[in-house]
Amino acid sequence: MPSVKTIRTVFWEDGAVVLLDQRALPLVERAVICRDYRQVVAAIKDLTVRGAPAIGVAAALGIALGARSLTASTPAEFRAAFATICQQFAASRPTARNLFWAIERMRACCDGALAALPAHPTPPSPGRDPFAHLREVLVAEAVRIGEEDVAANCRLGQAGCGLIPAGARILTHCNAGALATAGYGTALGVIRAAAAEGKVLRVYADETRPVLQGARLTAWELLREGIPCTLITDNMAGYLMKKGEVDLVIVGADRIAANGDTANKIGTYGLAVLARAHKIPFYVAAPLSTIDPSLPDGGAIPIEERASAEVTHLGGTRTAPEGVDVWNPAFDVTPHELISAIITEAGVIRPPFAAGIERACAPSSLCGRSPIP
Ligand code: MRU
Repeated sequence: MPSVKTIRTVFWEDGAVVLLDQRALPLVERAVICRDYRQVVAAIKDLTVRGAPAIGVAAALGIALGARSLTASTPAEFRAAFATICQQFAASRPTARNLFWAIERMRACCDGALAALPAHPTPPSPGRDPFAHLREVLVAEAVRIGEEDVAANCRLGQAGCGLIPAGARILTHCNAGALATAGYGTALGVIRAAAAEGKVLRVYADETRPVLQGARLTAWELLREGIPCTLITDNMAGYLMKKGEVDLVIVGADRIAANGDTANKIGTYGLAVLARAHKIPFYVAAPLSTIDPSLPDGGAIPIEERASAEVTHLGGTRTAPEGVDVWNPAFDVTPHELISAIITEAGVIRPPFAAGIERACAPSSLCGRSPIP
């Protein structure tokens, strides 16, 4: 599948974490090369890398980068320094489950490898690094997390493709594409798979105020791919549905609770209400690493609030009066009652979601690990 390879959002190369700078798109295509894990933390905070799965992969690679240079002479020292690195990633953005899932996986990998080492490596000779192998194991685990994300997206793309009718006119919100993942995308993964089968007539991309992920990123991805795309502002979606121009809505997710309530980019909830009012199916596409079965419902999902400048300014130019009060939640929660199906790499989960999510998140599965303390 060529599109998996062509957009490389986040990857490991020559001992560094490489990020496609999403702040600069679509005007400039440039990479940010991170040689210090703190650069990766900063890149997650400032949206150089964004989108729940991409944030998780960036954190995993960043943690591996940090582990390569941390200094320790005993396993206990290594574990403590490693935990400090993990905490900095955990504090970078609060909503995407994939971030915490990836941190937990890196920590489990580290703990497992440390347990195999003697408590006091001997002799601590100068020039010999007792943790050299462990550091490389962590890099390999982080790279694997990225590869698994692409594979999961390709699988969920195929699973979701069956839901797309021929000649579909699809509305999407934010960017849940290759840029938001390690490759291929979730909502756009389903659209890519359906487009490959000739089913997609047109994708309507919501602009997605205030950060414009739809206008800047989704439109860019779809144009590159040759998938017909029409950009609309967020407040046009209702009228478009009323005119009978939308057959289905499909979005990604940042965190899905055990009952199917779904946090995604601000504006998603409004779209789900509109879709219900117009009797249009509303689908969520996400890998299992986005599911947080420790939360019974969406009420407990932490919702990030971002800087007021995202609302008061457009492209660096002030559009609102100085001193105005601003509320800027980056995400909202769509209640499970408004969701027609959740598409994962384990298949399509239909309502009632609790049972399907529990099955998908069985202990051997990818979700369902305990939250970071
Ligand atoms: O603030 P962002 O750009 O990180 O928000 C991204 C979204 O809300 C996406 O829709 C979500 O992460 C799904 S990405 C596959």
